[in-house]
Amino acid sequence: HQNHRIALIPGDGIGTEVLPPARRVLDAVGRRHGIGFSYTSYDWSCERYVREGSMMPEDGLDRLREADAILLGAVGYPGVPDHVSLWGLLIPIRRTFRQYVNLRPVRVFEGVDSPLRSAAAGEVDLVVVRENVEGEYSEIGGRLNHGTPEELAVQEAVFTRTGVTRIADYAFSLAARRRGKLTSATKSNGIIHTMPFWDELIAERAAEHSGVTWDQEHIDALAAKFVLDPARFDVVVASNLFGDILSDLAAAVAGSIGIAPAANLNPERDFPSMFEPVHGSAPDIAGQGIANPLGAIWSAALMLDHLGHPEAAGDIDNAITAVLAKSDVRTRDLGGTATTEEFTEKLLELL
Ligand code: NAD
Ligand code: IPM
Ligand code: MN
Repeated sequence: HQNHRIALIPGDGIGTEVLPPARRVLDAVGRRHGIGFSYTSYDWSCERYVREGSMMPEDGLDRLREADAILLGAVGYPGVPDHVSLWGLLIPIRRTFRQYVNLRPVRVFEGVDSPLRSAAAGEVDLVVVRENVEGEYSEIGGRLNHGTPEELAVQEAVFTRTGVTRIADYAFSLAARRRGKLTSATKSNGIIHTMPFWDELIAERAAEHSGVTWDQEHIDALAAKFVLDPARFDVVVASNLFGDILSDLAAAVAGSIGIAPAANLNPERDFPSMFEPVHGSAPDIAGQGIANPLGAIWSAALMLDHLGHPEAAGDIDNAITAVLAKSDVRTRDLGGTATTEEFTEKLLELL
């Protein structure tokens, strides 16, 4: 009987509504497969910031370091500037724990209508591999001359040989285990200095992964192709900002961003990895109990896989597939009227 220490950070808005369902599902598959979880829940959030002046305590990262994995809802809420909430919690976790891979799978499930004619169930099955600790999300830069005509903002994108090489290797290896196709998102047509460097390093790594067919697309054209022909993609490797945008786009193409999961992975396993839905705190629907819990539940499945329990993860995957294909219970983002609770109950019934 294996026991895993899981740090739970529900966070803000619907983050607090989708984590309890994920935990119920984990407990259910845990019972079946003899996997135990001991949870420690942290109230780190914008509410805490307003109350105590910081998103998490001084020793927050040290506490998380003790966990085998972190499950997060979402952070950020109106009233606290996003740069405060995100640089105060989410980004430090990703960076300190060297979670340099942000893995974001997307599928069109049977029973979910894509807004696109071209995307039928079963045909779209892709993974965005997003570089998660450098690139456009750099700490170099700032704002000057606030409120004056001379006001300006600068931010330097930082791409390192180590950073691009390791995300490329991860993406090529993943493609080799899947359908053997990789697309690199770029913008190398002479405008952005960093992207020709990205391209060179991707090409360099491609030579070491000869079993994978690869190409590159400019991010603008790629966005159009995600809409026009999403079924053509297998693994898509992208920088931090490009990967952020592509993952919401792909999730919407597949029917709802409420389904999309993310794994912030530290492949070396010297630090805990973090699992969270792709979506945010959704202030527009928070507090109503109608958020789609599948993004958080699928994220929990990615966590189980990472912790060495592929069968238990597969059970969750099957339950997600079943609740969408075999029942008409679904939340509002999927065209239904069910609450988060009712949708979760149905999924647990089919698990
Ligand atoms: P969002 O993902 O919170 O919401 C975008 C839209 O999608 C909204 O209309 C929302 O209602 C809908 N939506 C999102 N998740 C849903 C779900 N599970 N079920 C049904 N509908 C869902 O994005 P946003 O509005 O840009 O951001 C809101 C806040 O969340 C901001 O503070 C932002 O910084 C933060 N955020 C945090 C994370 C994170 O913690 N990883 C991710 C994205 C955004
Ligand atoms: C995500 C989010 C975050 C990101 C924001 C909230 C900083 O959009 O996890 O996709 O851009 O990484
Ligand atoms: Mn995002």
